[in-house]
Amino acid sequence: MTARLLPPAPASLTRGLADLPAALDRAQPLRQKHRAQLPSQVAQLSEWLTTDRDELPRDYLSRPAVLSAYLHYFLPWNLYRQGRLAAGLDLQFKAGQRIVDVGAGPLTFALALWLTRPDLRELPLEILAIDRSAAALQAGRRVWDAVAPDAPWRVELLAQPAGGRALPEADLMVLANVLNEVHRPGGNDSESEDDPTDRLLERWAGSLAPGGRVLVIEPGTRPAARALVMLRAHALECGWRLLAPCPHGERCPQPGTGRHPWCHFAFDAAGSPAWLEDLSRRAGLTKDRASLSFLLLQPGVAAGPAAPAGREDEVLVVSGAFPLPEQARGRYGCAARGLVLLEEKSPSANVGPQPGDSVTVAWPDTPRRDGRSGALIAPLPVPAGGAARGSGPAPGGNGPRRPAPRKLSRGSGR
Ligand SMILES: C[S@@+](CC[C@H](N)C(=O)[O-])C[C@H]1O[C@@H](n2cnc3c(N)ncnc32)[C@H](O)[C@@H]1O
Repeated sequence: MTARLLPPAPASLTRGLADLPAALDRAQPLRQKHRAQLPSQVAQLSEWLTTDRDELPRDYLSRPAVLSAYLHYFLPWNLYRQGRLAAGLDLQFKAGQRIVDVGAGPLTFALALWLTRPDLRELPLEILAIDRSAAALQAGRRVWDAVAPDAPWRVELLAQPAGGRALPEADLMVLANVLNEVHRPGGNDSESEDDPTDRLLERWAGSLAPGGRVLVIEPGTRPAARALVMLRAHALECGWRLLAPCPHGERCPQPGTGRHPWCHFAFDAAGSPAWLEDLSRRAGLTKDRASLSFLLLQPGVAAGPAAPAGREDEVLVVSGAFPLPEQARGRYGCAARGLVLLEEKSPSANVGPQPGDSVTVAWPDTPRRDGRSGALIAPLPVPAGGAARGSGPAPGGNGPRRPAPRKLSRGSGR
């Protein structure tokens, strides 16, 4: 069985992204002059959101030109990223359950879930979207009405800063691309401690329904991943459970500090629409890969384990393939034993496991260590007698068809 965290974009997502411009035209029509300025507005906003965060105006999504740039570029790329994740994560819901999206912007997560999970389209769900920008929420509502006019999901908007008045209990609380804004020095509406994760977990736990979970999604950058690794450590200290992506509850081997790698997943952008690639190119932001880092967490329950025990032989692939000496091929992975170098001595022509795939390895009695990274070396493919999951070809590869993906969550049985 293949365990895939980031399966290829499902057809419903690909179609939804291809049709998005029509929905945007209805939701936020652009004058000809503003359409011509879109690439430069996108480039400016990209700088603000990445390298020049200090310059990011507090109310940026309340500015019409900036909001248009967000809707036409960041919304679709975030739909793509969050959609691929929503396709792989084990996010099950029951009728009437509530998703609270904090810093929802133009309802990105709700749209990504709708486009990615047609199996949820008959289910009455409650979406509570909170954002300090009323303009972003209202634009999101118009996009939602255009994309999902007959949805049985009840979408409620709440234009206020995070951490304000008490909210209805969430079965899933989502914070996507918002952590560093909510906790910006000087831009922090509600937290005043030095450690931005202080009291945060406590507050989240108090806002969840029994069994509720928190999904934090961030860009795949080193600073964002470092913040998530700190949050992870804090969560473990407080007895929270790591439902994904970690295959263990030990110290994170990819903390992003010093010369350590940072925990993130980069994946090809196959299935992103031509119109978005064209806009990205005109904004000088061409990309053939997308990336993210994330955590799916749950407060500890008195009777349950505080953290996953971690299976000795389970390795989560966290990098693409790279050449090793003597025609071998390597990939980094994460396991209870720490950072792992998955070494294929005689790589086959097919593509092999992708970032986010889980692989079962057979550890040698005395594993070698990679001189460069310090990672323990585990062989791939697993020698006869041990089975590798996820070692088939990637979609589009030349080998046999992959088995149906298994949803990845470590919430049960751990
Ligand atoms: C980068 S956007 C992310 C939007 C959406 N979650 C996504 O992934 O596309 C960050 C959003 O967080 C909102 N935001 C920033 N600080 C906030 C706060 N303190 N309370 C509520 N919303 C906030 C911004 O208005 C913006 O809509």
